[in-house]
Amino acid sequence: MIKVAWNKKFEVGHERIDFEHKIFLNLIREASLLPEMGSSKERVMRHLDEVKKYALFHFTSEENIMFDVAYPDFKKHRQEHAMLLALLDERSHQYKDGDIDLDGVVGFLFEWFALHTTQVDTRLAKYIAHGVDPGA
Ligand SMILES: [Fe+2]
Repeated sequence: MIKVAWNKKFEVGHERIDFEHKIFLNLIREASLLPEMGSSKERVMRHLDEVKKYALFHFTSEENIMFDVAYPDFKKHRQEHAMLLALLDERSHQYKDGDIDLDGVVGFLFEWFALHTTQVDTRLAKYIAHGVDPGA
C-alpha cells in the first residue's frame, strides 16, 4: 500500500487552491485505503470515478482563476490538466482489465499531484500573489 499524506510542501499559498488540493489529495488517500477495507472492484471503480470528477471540477476551478488574472501560461497549464485526465482514464481502464493493481493507479495519482502542485500550481500562485511570472 502506498502511504498518501498531505505535506506542507504541497501548499501553494492560495487559499482556494490549497483548500481544493486538500480534498483532492484526501480522495487519493481514500483510494489507497480501499483494498484493506475489502472493497470490490466495482466500488474501487466508483471511487476512481469520484476522483476523476473532482479532478475535473478542480481543474475547471483553477482554470477560471487563471482566466481571471489573464495568466500568461494558461494554455500550457490547461494542457497538463487535460493530460492528467486522459492518463487517469487510461490507468483506470488498465486497473479494470486487471493489467495493473490499485497501487499502480494511486502511485500515478500521488506522483502527479506532488509534482504538479509543487511546480506548476506554485508558479500560478506566485503569479497571482506578485503579478510576475517566475517561470518567464
Ligand atoms: Fe493545476
